[in-house]
Amino acid sequence: MKVTIIGGGGRVGVCAAFALQCGGVVSEIQLLDANKELAEGEALDLMHGAAMVADQRIYAGDYARAADSDIFLITAGLRRKPDESRLDLINRNVALFLGILESIRTAGMKKDAIVFVVSNPVDILTHLAMEKLGLPWQQVIGLGTMLDSSRFSSLIAEELKLAATQVKALMLGEHGDSMIPAWSSASVNGLPLTGLAQCTPGFQNAVVERTRNSGAECIKKKGGAGWAVALSIREVVHAIALDKRSLLPVSSLVQGVYDIRQICLSVPTVVGRRGVIDQVEIKLWPKELTGLQNSARALKETLAKVK
Ligand code: 2OP
Repeated sequence: MKVTIIGGGGRVGVCAAFALQCGGVVSEIQLLDANKELAEGEALDLMHGAAMVADQRIYAGDYARAADSDIFLITAGLRRKPDESRLDLINRNVALFLGILESIRTAGMKKDAIVFVVSNPVDILTHLAMEKLGLPWQQVIGLGTMLDSSRFSSLIAEELKLAATQVKALMLGEHGDSMIPAWSSASVNGLPLTGLAQCTPGFQNAVVERTRNSGAECIKKKGGAGWAVALSIREVVHAIALDKRSLLPVSSLVQGVYDIRQICLSVPTVVGRRGVIDQVEIKLWPKELTGLQNSARALKETLAKVK
């Protein structure tokens, strides 16, 4: 399984490469970046560790060498300023992103290639990639609220002193201000989280707020996310590489679940080698459903401005 990381010299790209190297599942990682020297340096540094971790080919390359990729992972983009919303990024990043799509198209892609978008605003850019690349919509996936769901689960575990790997709490909708917490399905080792005495409405509101602001918090403290977003990326790449049929909150063109259509955002999605295998309408509380539909509306309004 070959992954080309476009933006491979940037923080998210290089952390994703390291996570994939430590994961040892993919066989080839190509770093592609506008700053060629940086991509070469990062690839060299990663390759130096190969003897201690996995038998993979790791190198810096270009679009021509990317044509045989199984996954195009797009992390390139300008970072949000601490007080800037992801959607504010849109004008600055759309032009850059459309250029990347054109380079991918020109160099060529395998017919079963998956395009995996991380750049922000990820839902909008995923929609543009789905429209512009001519691939089946199932083969264009955005990281969506994978990172938000990891943050949500990890922060809950941290606050309630639970084992983080046993806490499963999803964020759905937009990777942005209108994301919604699915408390209705949040659990710790299969038991409903809302059944815990400590999981009061006050606690719930506070941890949701902290999750929503985590991206800006990372930007303010360290310039932007790297490690957790890389692990979220790896979860999706491994679901594709191993045809795992994992149920993940990734972004893709919603086909009617929750009465949402014609917009990319995160709903529970079965992911395998072919990309999106199914979108699953798991029962939500009425206020969660309303929130998800509001998220879809907000994204459609933004998309209309971009087109
Ligand atoms: C974040 O939330 C990178 O958008 C990503 O930090």
